[in-house]
Amino acid sequence: MKLDRRKDLLGLRDLEREEIELILDTAVPMKDIIKRDIKKVPALRGKAMVTVFYEPSTRTRTSFEIAGKYLSADTVNLAVSTSSVQKGESLRDTIKTIEVMGFDLMVMRHSMSGTPHYVARNTKMRVINAGDGANEHPTQALLDMYTIRERKGTLEGLKVAIVGDILHSRVARSNIYGLGKFGCEIRVVGPSTLMPPEVEKLSVKAYYSLEEAFADVDVINVLRIQRERQQSGLFPSLEEYANLYMVTPESLKKAKKDVLVLHPGPMNRGVEISSEIADGSKAVIDEQVTNGVAVRMALLFLMMGGSKSEIVA
Ligand code: CP
Repeated sequence: MKLDRRKDLLGLRDLEREEIELILDTAVPMKDIIKRDIKKVPALRGKAMVTVFYEPSTRTRTSFEIAGKYLSADTVNLAVSTSSVQKGESLRDTIKTIEVMGFDLMVMRHSMSGTPHYVARNTKMRVINAGDGANEHPTQALLDMYTIRERKGTLEGLKVAIVGDILHSRVARSNIYGLGKFGCEIRVVGPSTLMPPEVEKLSVKAYYSLEEAFADVDVINVLRIQRERQQSGLFPSLEEYANLYMVTPESLKKAKKDVLVLHPGPMNRGVEISSEIADGSKAVIDEQVTNGVAVRMALLFLMMGGSKSEIVA
């Protein structure tokens, strides 16, 4: 099976379970490459990719860039803040300009939901969504799923709690779509003001207390409080939020003993997660970052024509 029948990767909502499994399985040998002294294989030699981020990023942009380099693709970062976007060049003209330079694939982040979908319809380049507004962040969910599967041995039937700002979170949405295809029981928990309307239509159960939501869970995924997307009044103060919803050793008491704690980063320590948890033995936050490189290598490799059996040793 190949992934190259899809031109683009825009979200997990429309991805088949088998396609997710293929990406996760392909990321396993990619992780071996990252551990080598010489972290380079010729798999994508002659291919060119560009990252175009209209919003800040540390993990996603850098890991796509190094993933492409480990596979020998030529990788370029368009620094939007110093580009001709600042002179008023339109999105359409920017994309066309990049396309005619001969790039095969674009990785895009934008604050407006649906922008990578618009771009994908209007370019010959393959497009990977690196986060669009509050819609989806598919590669974050793929690396979360990889990390959970690696630690737990399976995704099937796990109880997963997603905590915090569900309303604004593209990470929550992509995790819900992805994990839902593997029969996980998904609980979302946070203040009612940060729950999407009709949240149950996402096939999740909503909770408003950590104690209830964490009973017997295998995995807790702690979301970042997105200060940049908060409208005033969604909760009284960060202190009040932390009092009720910060994940601490105390709040994990009813979870399974071997519960995993994930966070997509960047963290607001002392707001959604305590340092004791972030730096403790249950957290797999650094592993998520490493696995993000492997998963993005797998995705780039599969989308530009490779199949799992063709990975060059
Ligand atoms: N998790 C995540 O998307 O992090 P960055 O914003 O640093 O890419």
